[in-house]
Amino acid sequence: MTKLLFVCLGNICRSPSAENIMVHLLKQRRLSDQVQCDSAGTSSYHIGSPPDRRMTAAAQQQGITLTGQARQFQSEDFERFDWILAMDDQNYRDILRVDPTGQHHHKVRKICDFCRHHSDQGVPDPYYGGQDGFRDVIDLLFDACEGLLVFLQQEGSISQG
Ligand code: 4NP
Repeated sequence: MTKLLFVCLGNICRSPSAENIMVHLLKQRRLSDQVQCDSAGTSSYHIGSPPDRRMTAAAQQQGITLTGQARQFQSEDFERFDWILAMDDQNYRDILRVDPTGQHHHKVRKICDFCRHHSDQGVPDPYYGGQDGFRDVIDLLFDACEGLLVFLQQEGSISQG
């Protein structure tokens, strides 16, 4: 079982979306028994909260139901997960800071590196913007998660598909 952890700042917008989009793609391809997904935030701001209402609405429009309860990223996550996917550069740096010896750095990637159609370097933080921003996050994350699936197939974590 390959374990993926998606990480943003609050764990109420981008990372729960990435997690639930990935779960959706895995179900669609009958790969759910090979990959497990979770998400977390680098901050403590929203611990215990459900996904943001605006993000939930944008995801629902694309057939994705957002589930989960925000939690903060912790050093134990480096042991528990095979890949840690940061939504933006700041998240990436904040994750690496929790591993000062660098022994887990090879597990940490920026999710946009897996995009095949978008050229964004990070998933823009939609929190203080309008509804378009939330819709764009969903589009970008579908691209990134599909690319991530291809990567997992190529590196042998997923055995068919
Ligand atoms: P997220 O979005 O990191 O995608 O969950 C945000 C949620 C909350 C805040 C910022 C971004 N905040 O400043 O409270």
